[in-house]
Amino acid sequence: MKMTALLKCLGVAALFAAALALPAAAADEKAAAQPAVKKAEVIKAAPPDLAKGAASFATVCVACHAADGNSSIPANPKLAQQHPEYLIEQLQDYKSGKRNNAVMKGFASALSADDMKNIAYWLASQKAKPGFAKDKALVALGERIYKGGIADRQIAACAGCHSPNGAGIPSEYPRLSGQHADYTATQLNYFRDGTRKNSLPMTQIAAKLNDREIKAVSDYIAGLR
Ligand code: HEC
Ligand code: HEC
Repeated sequence: MKMTALLKCLGVAALFAAALALPAAAADEKAAAQPAVKKAEVIKAAPPDLAKGAASFATVCVACHAADGNSSIPANPKLAQQHPEYLIEQLQDYKSGKRNNAVMKGFASALSADDMKNIAYWLASQKAKPGFAKDKALVALGERIYKGGIADRQIAACAGCHSPNGAGIPSEYPRLSGQHADYTATQLNYFRDGTRKNSLPMTQIAAKLNDREIKAVSDYIAGLR
């Protein structure tokens, strides 16, 4: 451990010791008997530093994902209001190569676990800007697939996991609503052709979608809110 990191740890430990001393003295003898356990739990649950996350994001990521995480470039995903657990997992996967992308591998590799946590929770606190469906001819097909899947080909409804309004389910399923259709379609293609291999359910689902269905459901998702 580097000297500065060690000093930081000692400083943090001293803070926790001080914080623990108060309630212990107040009454709870049981808690006072297990200070080591409590301390470990507190450290594990150390809250993200949103200010640091915002600063890191503004230094590098802003160039492609925009100041508030609502990229206006269709190839670059909107990240605002995305679930933090999902964002952290993706950054780890880029770093490890589990999610294959040369551009993001470089940027993710430069981030520590703490950077990822701070940036992810800051992004989650940003408000997503809504998008719009553009393809009138296809959007009805997209809606059918999203809401009901395609029963005779055993394609599950997207809404079942990503929720009817595309908000996803925190820590389980990412938010999709309002995402650029170009980005969504690219990801479905990547799941289908094996470029993106970090989600078994999505690999199986995308394998069964044809180009027209991918285009349709991506367009519908862009207008979801
Ligand atoms: C040069 C442009 C560029 C920069 C700079 C950049 N990104 Fe990205 N980012 C992209 C592109 C393009 C993708 C889509 C890659 C793919 O297909 O997997 C992406 C994808 C992502 C994803 C996955 C989103 C999802 O919905 O799955 C996250 C998270 C992300 N970037 C975070 C960051 C962070 C944090 C930084 C700064 C440290 C950053 N990006 C810097 C272009 C960029
Ligand atoms: C069984 C649950 C499930 C169903 C059904 C499902 N998904 Fe997913 N989806 C996931 C999970 C889990 C992830 C996150 C993968 C990861 O961690 O990399 C995901 C990720 C995605 C992503 C990547 C998001 C991003 O920001 O990069 C897209 C796009 C997507 N799903 C679209 C769809 C569409 C379209 C459908 C319907 C045709 C669908 N999903 C149905 C579970 C599901």
